[in-house]
Amino acid sequence: MNLQRTDNPANENTERVRNHFALHSSAWGNRYGALPSSMADLDLALRRECVHRLLWPILNDAGRKLRVIDVGCGTGDVLDGLPRDLMQVTGVDFVREMALVAGQTHPADRFITADATALPFRDNSADVVTSLGMFEYLAKPADALRSIHHTLKPGGCLIASFPNRLSVFRKLLNFERAAEGLIHGLRSRGANPAVEALQTTKYMHTQWTVGQARRMLRAAGFDVENVLMHTMGPWGRLGRLKHVLRLSRFTSRWMMNNRGLSPWFASTMVIRARKQATTGKRRRC
Ligand SMILES: C[S@@+](CC[C@H](N)C(=O)[O-])C[C@H]1O[C@@H](n2cnc3c(N)ncnc32)[C@H](O)[C@@H]1O
Repeated sequence: MNLQRTDNPANENTERVRNHFALHSSAWGNRYGALPSSMADLDLALRRECVHRLLWPILNDAGRKLRVIDVGCGTGDVLDGLPRDLMQVTGVDFVREMALVAGQTHPADRFITADATALPFRDNSADVVTSLGMFEYLAKPADALRSIHHTLKPGGCLIASFPNRLSVFRKLLNFERAAEGLIHGLRSRGANPAVEALQTTKYMHTQWTVGQARRMLRAAGFDVENVLMHTMGPWGRLGRLKHVLRLSRFTSRWMMNNRGLSPWFASTMVIRARKQATTGKRRRC
């Protein structure tokens, strides 16, 4: 495995995200077990399913081995199960611990440590870039899109996930968190507010509507080809109950194929977008 480190100026948010995921590196891959134990785990499994659905036709049609780069790869599990005789995989994560675990658990793939906003690859060198669960943590997602755009060949595909801002279930979670915060605040009345503020400060977690994600991708030079939406169900305490999870899995799969209501209910969207073959020429998808 080849591990490189880039010297990207790290802002406060970046450091928080880095520290957060460094803590999760040893156990991240276990979340892809057979039975999800929370709505977040179900979301991981479903978005991986969406990537496979969106990637299979490209692999089948290519007629040659494709170069696939998985940006924000975590422990490298997203592309598990896809045939390596049709693709050569390089995973990139800015948390060194994640890339190390990925290298141990996926010896057939290559992993490097680098920031998504400064990918260390030649321009026009990748056929496909996948990026799951990463954009929401970036202070400047447009910088990562620019770097991915440079790395992709003209006509190459980006398959990326984005949390859906309109999701009723995400809104419920915000409500639940606000209520918990209020209760916590009342319980700890009299504590030092500065210390309290520090304890509750977290990293960025941006959400997009389908329209906003489309516009962001178009502005970065991509044509959106396909949007799959998934994960229906409550993300808080209720969403950890076995039967609620089962029902959520069932409704999520159904809605993946029946789009009508998903913009309001699905928690996540996975989008396939193609790098425009010629700059300046923008087609509507
Ligand atoms: C939610 S995890 C998803 C991991 C994997 N894609 C998956 O779906 O299982 C997000 C990953 O993105 C990585 N990440 C976040 N910001 C990044 C950045 N600026 N450059 C590279 N990786 C980043 C984190 O370290 C973390 O491993």
